[in-house]
Amino acid sequence: MARRPRVPAHQVTTRNLGAAYPFLAEAGLGQRGVVIGDDLLGGTFVFDPFELYAQNVVSNPNMVVFGQIGRGKSAFVKTFLWRQAVFGRRAWVVDPKGEYADLAAAWGVRPVALRPGGAIRLNPLDPGREHEGAVIDGLGSTARRQMELLASLACACLGRGLLPRERAALGAALSAAAARVAVPTVPAVVEALLVPSADAAASLRTGAADLLEDGRDVALELRRLVHGDLCGMFDGPTTPGLDLSAPLVVLDLSALYTSSALGILMACATAWLQAALSRTVGRGGGQVFVVVDEAWAILSNLGVARWLQSSWKMSRALGVANVAVVHRVSDLHSVGASDSEQVALAQGLLADSETRVVYAQSPGELQVASALLSLSSTEAELLPQLRRGTALWKVGQGSFLVQHRVSPMEQLMVNTDAAMAAR
Ligand SMILES: Nc1ncnc2c1ncn2[C@@H]1O[C@H](COP(=O)(O)OP(=O)(O)OP(=O)(O)O)[C@@H](O)[C@H]1O
Ligand SMILES: [Mg+2]
Repeated sequence: MARRPRVPAHQVTTRNLGAAYPFLAEAGLGQRGVVIGDDLLGGTFVFDPFELYAQNVVSNPNMVVFGQIGRGKSAFVKTFLWRQAVFGRRAWVVDPKGEYADLAAAWGVRPVALRPGGAIRLNPLDPGREHEGAVIDGLGSTARRQMELLASLACACLGRGLLPRERAALGAALSAAAARVAVPTVPAVVEALLVPSADAAASLRTGAADLLEDGRDVALELRRLVHGDLCGMFDGPTTPGLDLSAPLVVLDLSALYTSSALGILMACATAWLQAALSRTVGRGGGQVFVVVDEAWAILSNLGVARWLQSSWKMSRALGVANVAVVHRVSDLHSVGASDSEQVALAQGLLADSETRVVYAQSPGELQVASALLSLSSTEAELLPQLRRGTALWKVGQGSFLVQHRVSPMEQLMVNTDAAMAAR
């Protein structure tokens, strides 16, 4: 005779069973979006920043992807963009390593390759869409963006903040250049700094010789973009005929990847890209991802980092989700961690990017990571142990451990190990 179990059988609906540990799994972020991979606590992980913004799960659609070298940051970004294409989403990418060519080929487009003395020039001072009623101090939004960018570039080149007289000289030179040509260029601004007009001097209640002295250092540094090692990319009107309506636009800066001025060049590329984007998207023109891979090169310089942060703030109105890829959490305040502006900048960028995808971090990073990303002690312990392709996702108030899945077809466009594998 069979022995009866001592514990009577318990019947329960599957709905109630879900509440019983160990079957409890995170509800995830819903099913609207693209599949990223496996939620390691159960289920498939699906993500879409525009959907989550619409559902008030996040208050902005921007993302920062952190991770040590070779952990799969770029692989995630490439497959994410590729999968988003199904929903008609477009993408613009600043590609400092020249590694998005295979993704571009799959999408049927060619990257825009920038190199000194090359065939293509982009004007970072190209106007964006003018915001109505945005005139402040007599300047429209385009003029203010141009001034902000030039001041950031000058700060970055000089390696220090601008003096009031330098900023004033730069502003006067930008106005003079804009009065001369419909769209000012960096060489036109440098020329106006080196040959200040009597009108510009009079507007600042000074003489032309004094104004020249005030702006000379700025002019000599900005001249680097016009003459010398960085010439031929951002020093003239934008080359006509670029196809900005393509579903994917890639700016390939790999010719300058090892340049000490990479951050400055990336800032120029991003400025051009954002102005072009604001003219072509928004007002129902579709949602777009703007990716700055290797963004640590921009963030390592306070001047251009400040500029990048201010430009992120504007993009929500255009239907743009920004994606920045960096190595370490401390990249966000790498120049003088104790400096309060650096910390404020890091926190500001993080506040403006409510999705943080964190691949493995070194143990030395944990303190900064825990503080800036509000990690629990368990999450912090996990970070150094994450394997390639696995990341901690912090989305709004939620945390997820996700193994990114790459299909065999996608593997061809994400492989950056070819050189390591070659015999
Ligand atoms: N989820 C994954 N599944 C399988 N292979 C992956 C996955 N993620 C990344 N890889 C492989 O790992 C290698 C490195 O990935 P990737 O170039 O994305 O790293 P990275 O974090 O961007 O590195 P870096 O900091 O140098 O830019 C690639 O060859 C890619 O094919
Ligand atoms: Mg990468």
